Amino acid sequence: MAHFEKANSVGEWFDQRLAINTLKRVLAFEYWIPKNINFLWAMGMVLAATFGMLVVSGIFLLMYYQPNVDLAFDSVNYTIMTEVGYGWLWRHIHGVGASVVFLIIYIHMFTGIYYGSYKKGRELIWLSGMGLFVAFSAEAFSGYMLPWGQMSYWAGMVITNLFSGGSLEAYGLVEWIRGDYVPAQAFLTRFFMLHVLLLPLVIIGLIVLHFGTLRIPHVNNQDGEDIDYEEAARLYKEGNVKDSKVIPFQPVFLAKDIFVMGVYFILFFYLVFYHFEFAMDPVNFDPADGLKTPAHIYPEWYFLWSYEILRPFSKDLGLIAFAIAQVIFFALPFLDKSPNVAPASKRGLFKFWFWAMLIDVLVLTFMGKLPPTDALFANIGLISALVFFALWIALPFITKIEKKL
Ligand code: HEM
Repeated sequence: MAHFEKANSVGEWFDQRLAINTLKRVLAFEYWIPKNINFLWAMGMVLAATFGMLVVSGIFLLMYYQPNVDLAFDSVNYTIMTEVGYGWLWRHIHGVGASVVFLIIYIHMFTGIYYGSYKKGRELIWLSGMGLFVAFSAEAFSGYMLPWGQMSYWAGMVITNLFSGGSLEAYGLVEWIRGDYVPAQAFLTRFFMLHVLLLPLVIIGLIVLHFGTLRIPHVNNQDGEDIDYEEAARLYKEGNVKDSKVIPFQPVFLAKDIFVMGVYFILFFYLVFYHFEFAMDPVNFDPADGLKTPAHIYPEWYFLWSYEILRPFSKDLGLIAFAIAQVIFFALPFLDKSPNVAPASKRGLFKFWFWAMLIDVLVLTFMGKLPPTDALFANIGLISALVFFALWIALPFITKIEKKL
């Protein structure tokens, strides 16, 4: 056993046993952040804070929620919303948080794409980030089942039906996932378990991994500059703060992060108090009814782009297109063949690729909300889905011929 001296303070006592000071140095006081980054680099911490809000509000909701097909709807819409003190507040925080977290995830992802933050050395940051995207998608979907309203039931029906594999008609698999022929008690219980236990654990694990992957390559910066961290850190520690290209995470960068978070939370709570309805589908205020299909079934806004990729094609093709759309962003670091780490504006054809992809995803999102009955909108949806795939096919070619900066 190591030799232990008498500690002079509580902090020292812990440090002797847990190396707290080394941990603080490695993770905070000497974790170096480039100076040339903008507010978009605060989105990661904004995401972590929003996840924290979701966990806390979720714990309060869990105290009154009933995972039972006969009681779930009332436990949310009656008990929590009207009987429990401030139950409405926790529900609005949870609902708004679930929607806004996707907006921030998309901003965070497209920031990474714009600045090339997924390139050599940073592939694992990107892959763990994509893991988080998929895990959050599953978390949002499973949570959507819990109020057991009409949209919970029918979205659950439609999405689990996807696992029948089109013409393969693998209905055994669908029934296995549901635990029944249709969404019913077994279905609700397992999605409840996924939502409150398994998926949050996976998300926490992935966040730890995501933070770990940032440690060695460091975050990118808005010029794509390859910083000599040892030299920059030496200058900073010598007191030459002006010439050093970096600042420590704690306390300097964190103060900026907290400022951005402050602005974000003002907007967040504005939505919670005054515009929570945008995060709640009116159809889901009708209790689930397996005998009454809603006229128009659509997912929440953050799934609309991939839903629209599924819709315009025939059954099998749609399913394949949908499956590819779900995972293709994982491949970004390997399909972008250019060695340039730079903002898209400085990168030849990639500049157009970036904006075309962003606009295409937005168009797909808007089209995904519209009923499939209008021929014009259906055609725009089809063209946007084709553009989506054309862009991914073009990516290795346009980045291969990109001039080295
Ligand atoms: C939802 C949970 C997430 C959390 C809590 C999170 C957290 C963070 C944090 C704190 C940073 C460092 C600061 C910053 O650049 O903002 C970061 C960087 C990064 N994240 Fe995430 N992230 C999440 C999801 C994602 C997703 C979905 C992606 C994309 C697939 C992603 C990709 C990246 C990339 C590429 C970087 C490096 C940025 C750079 O080097 O400049 N993250 N993340």
